[in-house]
Amino acid sequence: MYRELHHPLVQTLINSLRDNSIDAFVFRHTIKEVTKLLLYEALREAPLTSKKVLTWNGEKEYAYIKEDDIVVVSVLRAALPMHEAVINTLRAAVSGFLAIKRDEVTHKSVLYYDRVGDCSGKKVILVDPMVATGGSLCDAIEVLKAKNAQAICTLNIIASPEGISKIQSMHPDVEMIIAKIDEKLNDDMFIIPGLGDAGDRAYNTV
Ligand code: PRP
Repeated sequence: MYRELHHPLVQTLINSLRDNSIDAFVFRHTIKEVTKLLLYEALREAPLTSKKVLTWNGEKEYAYIKEDDIVVVSVLRAALPMHEAVINTLRAAVSGFLAIKRDEVTHKSVLYYDRVGDCSGKKVILVDPMVATGGSLCDAIEVLKAKNAQAICTLNIIASPEGISKIQSMHPDVEMIIAKIDEKLNDDMFIIPGLGDAGDRAYNTV
C-alpha cells in the first residue's frame, strides 16, 4: 500500500526542491522539512505507551509513542538529511544504515554496507528520498525482512509510478509514504520531472 501526501505545504516544499538555484544547505533543510511531514503521516496509527512524568503540577501519566520499538534505516547517502530529521524527532529510536549504489550503466542496485542489527519485533522506518526503478528500496526491504522486521514503512520524497509498482508487487505488505509521485522515468532511469541527483545536490558532489 502507498499514500501520497496531498497538501499545499508539501507541494510548495517539493517544488522549492526542484529549483536548481537553491544551495546544498537549503536543499538539506527542505528535505528535512518534508521528512517531518512524512513522519507525521507514517506515525498516524503508532501505538502509544503510558509513562509517568513529573510535571509542574506533580506526577502524572501521559501517552507517548513507543520509540524503543522503532528502527530508522537509511539508504546512504542521499537519505542522510532525512535520517537526521527522523531521529531528531524520535530520539530513542535505533538507527541503522545500508549503502546501496545504483550502477550507472546497468541501473542495477548493489548492497555494499550493512550496519543494521536484528529487527525482531521492531517497526522499521526506511528512508530514501528517491524511488526511481525501485531497485534500491526493494533490496533494502529484502535485507530488513531477513533481519525479521515486524513491519516496514518507507518515507520517500519523490517516487516514480514504475518504482511504486515494483515495490507494491514484490512487497505488498510494505507501506510507502510518499510526498510526491512524479510523472515517469526517462531512458536513463531518472525521475521526470524529479529533482536531479538528490545525493549530489545535498552534498555538493560534482
Ligand atoms: C539514489 C537514491 C536511491 C536510488 C533510487 O541513490 O537515493 O537510493 O538512487 O534509484 P532506484 O530506485 O532506481 O534504485 P544513488 O544510487 O544515486 O546513491 P547516492 O545516495 O549515494 O547518491
